[in-house]
Amino acid sequence: MTTPVLFLLDHTRPLEETLWVLGDLCKDRDLGIQVLVCPDEALLRLVTPAGWEALTGHPVVSEQELPKYLEQKPLAVFCQDWRQDLAPMLAHSGIPVLLWGDELPPGVPPGSVALPEFEAMEILRRLEQLATPQDFAGKTVLVTAGPTVEDIDPVRFITNRSSGKMGVAIAWAAAVRGARVLLVHGPMTAEVPDFPGLEKFPVRSAQQMHDVVRDHWSEAQVAVLCAAVADFRPDHYVPQKIKKIEGEGMVLVLERTPDILAELGAMPKHPFLVGFAAETDDVEINALNKLRRKHCDLLCANDIRKPGSGFAGDTNQITIYAPDGTVLALPMLSKQGAAYRILEEIAKRV
Ligand code: PMT
Repeated sequence: MTTPVLFLLDHTRPLEETLWVLGDLCKDRDLGIQVLVCPDEALLRLVTPAGWEALTGHPVVSEQELPKYLEQKPLAVFCQDWRQDLAPMLAHSGIPVLLWGDELPPGVPPGSVALPEFEAMEILRRLEQLATPQDFAGKTVLVTAGPTVEDIDPVRFITNRSSGKMGVAIAWAAAVRGARVLLVHGPMTAEVPDFPGLEKFPVRSAQQMHDVVRDHWSEAQVAVLCAAVADFRPDHYVPQKIKKIEGEGMVLVLERTPDILAELGAMPKHPFLVGFAAETDDVEINALNKLRRKHCDLLCANDIRKPGSGFAGDTNQITIYAPDGTVLALPMLSKQGAAYRILEEIAKRV
């Protein structure tokens, strides 16, 4: 999203909050917005035009210049307050208004929304919704994310390096397209933001993830299984801390965990199924094998040896495989950017 967004700023709102939210919005994101601010006179006495420019990276737009900027069709105009003097110009522009408040005044252009919270994530989500087709409205997308944790005793466990970032990015991208999202996630380091349409189901083990997915899969039209589910768990849990014995090693007997993706794929009628594959070698062979064996409708493979790809970081390089032989090799993208591309591919097929 490269279209600009105009922010009409008002001195009656707390300046600290305004600066904080704008600072967050100006941080680089894959669909980064161009933040253009038009502060009122009183605000310009508190923060100079140079200060606003340092924050946003763009010169201040004066009220006199507003008509010119509206002609350039920004994605939206964010208003901290509804200014009666500017109302006719905004109504006439046809550009959607995001208004901080509980309700919209009459006469605002179509697509306008009231935002009860002045919060960067929510503003971003609304802006991204304006820029994205709402083709998942009325659909439920089930996403698994993060690692699972398989306990050995009260102290020790088996897990993996998944941060959950990729799965959270998928959840966000689905919500931006209008979906209701069920996010079943293991203990993650990635922050799981709250946003409308998102229902979170925290779990710990592969078995718990399996059980929650089994309880909810029938509600979903699409399932994206991005979690790094432990393939093995200890064959039994020891309720007391296992003591070490001087000079002796320890044998841990592991058993298989349920394969959630394979189980869903084997159902006669299942949601549109997207699997992931984290591979270190023979990426294409292994990915195609998983696509077929687990009956996926799409498979997203990441070569986790490649710098910048796979676990924990903020970027990923994904190749998407489809059963009809289509192969789409995405460039290295932020995980959010990769998630938008994956959702685009799903949207073409559901
Ligand atoms: O969480 P991040 O730090 O952002 O990292 C992202 C990621 C590397 C975890 C993600 O991009 C990824 O590749 N996820 C899948 C990791 C994985 O476990 O791949 P796999 O090849 O072992 O499993 C194949 C598929 O089967 C996956 O869709 C997995 O969710 C699913 N599976 C695996 C085992 C199991 N018992 N149940 C499953 O559902």
